[in-house]
Amino acid sequence: MKNIYSNIYKNSKKNLNKAKNLLMKNHIVALPTETVYGLAGNAYKKGVVKKIFNLKKRPKKNPLIIHYDSLNELKEDAYINSSFLKLYYKFSPGPLTYILKKKKNSKICTYANANLDTIAVRFPKHKDIKKLMKKINFPLAIPSANISSKISPVSAIDVVEEFGNKIKFVLDGGRSKIGLESTVVKVSNEIKIIRPGLISKKDIERFLKKKVAFSKQIKKIISPGLLKKHYSPGIPMKLNCKNREDKAAFIVFGKKYNKNKNVFNLSKKGSLREAGKNLYKTFRKIKRLKYKKINVARIPNKDFGIAINDRLKKASN
Ligand code: TXA
Ligand code: MG
Repeated sequence: MKNIYSNIYKNSKKNLNKAKNLLMKNHIVALPTETVYGLAGNAYKKGVVKKIFNLKKRPKKNPLIIHYDSLNELKEDAYINSSFLKLYYKFSPGPLTYILKKKKNSKICTYANANLDTIAVRFPKHKDIKKLMKKINFPLAIPSANISSKISPVSAIDVVEEFGNKIKFVLDGGRSKIGLESTVVKVSNEIKIIRPGLISKKDIERFLKKKVAFSKQIKKIISPGLLKKHYSPGIPMKLNCKNREDKAAFIVFGKKYNKNKNVFNLSKKGSLREAGKNLYKTFRKIKRLKYKKINVARIPNKDFGIAINDRLKKASN
């Protein structure tokens, strides 16, 4: 199929170089990651980071995740500790974001981490962004490529749906494999999960052989991913519904649901992994079809289901 969007670029070597040049000239580009697509810019440059906040209409107090290619680069900007290192060698590169203490002489602009004494850092795994990061010598501030509080994009076209041609360059790295944002974990003396994702609390506990807490600091905005409304299609949404209603979109999970034009099955075979990957696409589809109401069936609250339910809850607020 011909690409009708002039700002979507396929992931060729030539276009990766184009993306590199744009980033080096302080532009913002949209990039694929294995979780969701993001808006990327030089994390050392205040003007660049400000552009990201403005494009997203993001509250200034909501810090961005800084994306690195290597541990050595990170060492310039954050203090690393043994729990972090253990998790890093097990789960990175991949969908895990760490909150670490920021170094005083770090070059990360204070705007990017909302003036906190910590920074959130991630080592993405998607092959295109990895190739790109090898070509530059600064870390990238990359929030999800959506208007603040709206649905995160999981394909290049979703990014264009969010921003039109306000973003001049969207690198098309295919559909995001995971489809929900990374797990965010605070690694200081104690370890706390502040946003659930594919790497679950259980995964981390099993690996570290110790209990890990879920942070419930919803009021204190340490992680506005925990703000009440988020990831929202902007349509009233009701959770834990049992039956189909004629005029409402019905999001379901598993094989017991019959096909119907208003039934949207996240995973017929009952795979949470598949359901997570389909969630945001399904939101966008239902929005496009102009439904006025969404009902959601119960989704098992275990493994990746915990992250799915977290996003559903925020979308339904
Ligand atoms: O999968 C992902 O993490 C994607 C891709 C693009 O990497 N990025 C993403 O970024 O979801 P964003 O900005 O949409 O979400 C970042 C989350 C927010 O909830 C933010 O509040 C939290 O991380 N965060 C960032 N820095 C923090 C800090 N220093 N302390 C606590 N939370 C922080
Ligand atoms: Mg986001």
